[in-house]
Amino acid sequence: MSLPTLDDAGDVGGRRTFVRVDFNVPLAGGTITDDARIRAALPTIRELRDCGGMLVLGSHLGRPDGKPVDALRMEPVARRLGELLGVRVEATQRITGREVSAAVRELPDGGVLVLENLRFDPRESQDDPGFAAELADLTEVYVDDAFGAVHRAHASVHALPRAIREAARPAVAGRLLERELTVLSRLRDGDVETPYVAVLGGAKVSDKLSAIDALLDRVDAILVGGAMAFTVIAAQGGEIGTSLVERDRFEQVRTTLSRADEKGVLIQLPEDVIAASEMSADARSETVKAASVPRGLMGLDIGPRSVEEFARTIADARTILWNGPMGVFELEPFSAGTRGVAKAIAATTAFSVVGGGDSLAAVKKFELTEDFDHLSTGGGASLEFLEGAELPGIAVLEE
Ligand code: 3PG
Repeated sequence: MSLPTLDDAGDVGGRRTFVRVDFNVPLAGGTITDDARIRAALPTIRELRDCGGMLVLGSHLGRPDGKPVDALRMEPVARRLGELLGVRVEATQRITGREVSAAVRELPDGGVLVLENLRFDPRESQDDPGFAAELADLTEVYVDDAFGAVHRAHASVHALPRAIREAARPAVAGRLLERELTVLSRLRDGDVETPYVAVLGGAKVSDKLSAIDALLDRVDAILVGGAMAFTVIAAQGGEIGTSLVERDRFEQVRTTLSRADEKGVLIQLPEDVIAASEMSADARSETVKAASVPRGLMGLDIGPRSVEEFARTIADARTILWNGPMGVFELEPFSAGTRGVAKAIAATTAFSVVGGGDSLAAVKKFELTEDFDHLSTGGGASLEFLEGAELPGIAVLEE
């Protein structure tokens, strides 16, 4: 069955609607440092309010491990949402219970309430049907707009929509989830213009191997940067000094490389890297060959020649997927690689999609957000989707 959307929810006017959002935003000392995930849910929230829906928003924030943690309360998130909507938005002190039910009952048409962090209750991560039933009692309609959380079999994205559906009430995808799936489906199994190039980085190759394996059936080239490149280089016998490495993945990496070879997919690795004795902005750094990093040094960014070579492949691409930074871009001496690749992608007219928290932060830092066609709000979720894994939060809506 195809994904039901807001268009299939019927008239939500005057109906209490639970919207699962992913408001898992970065916080520093109680202040939201990036509100992109809140903004991304605004189209759905505005559409529902315009129809007169009464909105009960639920999200997780961080990983509080099933108990209340003051630093992870939803209150600052509700306040920010209120500023963006231009209305007063309250956060409840609890997730369910008498007071919450009363607050939900008092919501006016178009009113918005944010429930306390769903992960303060251990039953959320356990996909507990009892917890889902308590949430289901609060509302009539269920809308999932939390793409970043659909790979979790948690109560608010799995047991809850099932309970709502079993009660013959609508459980549908919101506009953000719909857009994410449209774009990512196109990259995974739709028609794309070629050359199709994937640019992958980040610390661990283990996080990306399944995605790489799936992408081999689709792409023309995979550019590998970030610390994960060292596991690939070392698996081929290169010297990587003290760079990060996952030795237990060598065998898997070699298998993937030979599959790429059979399929004629170019795996492009950095030729040079910026290396230093420690991951510190003050450490003396030098440019060295990626497969001959001297003893005592670790590679912390791709080098200028690699940026040039990667940019050449990117310039020819018609479709680009980027996930994971090329180096430790948060530290200025190791930021040029990620900046260079981001600018190269931004300069193309290719259809470009970026996913993953760190790459998104890089795109923002380099002020290139306008130059990408789609910024995915899901990190783990977008990778798992591209791998072809069944995502619990999607499967349940399609049931
Ligand atoms: C994310 O930040 O990728 C999502 O909000 C999911 O968070 P989680 O990895 O803690 O489940």
